[in-house]
Amino acid sequence: MRISIIGTGYVGLVTGACFAEVGHNVVCVDNDTAKINLLRAGSMPLYEPGLEEIVKNNVAAGRLRFAHTVREGVEAADIVFIAVPTPPLPDGSVDLTAIERVAREIAACLTEYKIVVDKSTVPVRTGEKVAETIRRYSKTQVEFDVVSNPEFLREGFAVHDLMHPDRIVIGVSSQRPVPPMKEVYAPFNAPIIVTDINSAELIKHAANSFLALKISYINALSVICEACGANVQQVAMGIGMDRRIGTSFLNAGIGFGGSCFPKDLSAFIAISQQLGYEFGLLREVQKINAQQMDRFVKKITDTLWVLKDKVIGVLGLAFKQNTDDVRCSPAIELCHRLRREGAILRVHDPRAMGKARPLLPDATYLDNMNDVPEGCDALVIATEWEEFKQLDLEHAKRVMAQPIIFDGRNLFDPEEMKRLGFIYRSVGR
Ligand code: UGA
Repeated sequence: MRISIIGTGYVGLVTGACFAEVGHNVVCVDNDTAKINLLRAGSMPLYEPGLEEIVKNNVAAGRLRFAHTVREGVEAADIVFIAVPTPPLPDGSVDLTAIERVAREIAACLTEYKIVVDKSTVPVRTGEKVAETIRRYSKTQVEFDVVSNPEFLREGFAVHDLMHPDRIVIGVSSQRPVPPMKEVYAPFNAPIIVTDINSAELIKHAANSFLALKISYINALSVICEACGANVQQVAMGIGMDRRIGTSFLNAGIGFGGSCFPKDLSAFIAISQQLGYEFGLLREVQKINAQQMDRFVKKITDTLWVLKDKVIGVLGLAFKQNTDDVRCSPAIELCHRLRREGAILRVHDPRAMGKARPLLPDATYLDNMNDVPEGCDALVIATEWEEFKQLDLEHAKRVMAQPIIFDGRNLFDPEEMKRLGFIYRSVGR
């Protein structure tokens, strides 16, 4: 199929690259000239495991190219995907300016039937608005279809999630775009659910909110566990093995972050409110998430008392493992809190130090995680990177001023830490 993707952020670039990988002919478009030039020069604007190789191979094979204008994208494709940012507005609702602008730009160059697919996360009823905008701004009476096709990929696992989806959701208002959309996704061997457009749009916000709810639920349980001496990981295993609940997304910690959950929760609450429903359950999910961070900071201050001039090592800056993304990162939020109390920070992240530097300019950045503990009054684990489990704990114990570890991601075994002589505080254990 001839496909174009408007917007080469995480979703757009990974989608474009994976579509090319399964044999489609793809043009990725972005109005950020620097980004397109970078991609054309063979460099990557973001880190995502496995992506660079796929991009390089498919550019070399002639199935993937990059363009600056929506016109080039529309002319080169039968199906035009919109994957532009939909950032939050101060009141929590969604800024749809980029979607509206792209809809107008697509309208201006429509000369034959095209399928316009919205992949960005948008409020329910955006599809109707996109269709109305294209109709209004197209100079000809040319036919088109608008489709909603939400994305469920996780940063850090994006290529895997795209190549092996649990399901594909296709929201349509007529049957005409269904066969071509099924053809796009046929190589992925996943169940395809065809719905109306509003339902497809709702599925995305409902799924992310449910996952955030799961995390807040286990974080709330972690408080109970601490109060009664139970172990939240054992409780998570015990409830998760009921297949109706499932074991994933039950890791207690310092709360969820990133560019999706916080934004999508606020958006869904605002959307529900506009539709006349006060989604109190989701407000509680937000509240529990904020309290989880407060509680963790309190654990640190309760143990260290005064933070001013204390040296604290922080492992992890990204909002989760396997990514260089620090947007709405709980780890960065935690560093800011510690800095505000006057702590001196020594930090490390396997991928995110470049993006963290402008946000935390006065921390000391260390390339090797084993150099972080040197002289520290405490060490904090803020992101769930697997490789942190390989930290040389005996060395850390020797070089730290005080053997104190606050593990915000429950990476270590409390018994083992005690045996090694650490004062060790984790979450819900
Ligand atoms: C999330 C969804 O998982 C994707 O399905 C969705 O497509 C994406 O948002 C999106 O809307 O674009 P993502 O934000 O990349 O993906 O990251 P997640 O893996 O979901 O993690 C989000 C946050 O939750 C992280 O801060 C992570 O540390 C935290 N988390 C996750 C927990 O604290 N506990 C868990 O058990 C799982």
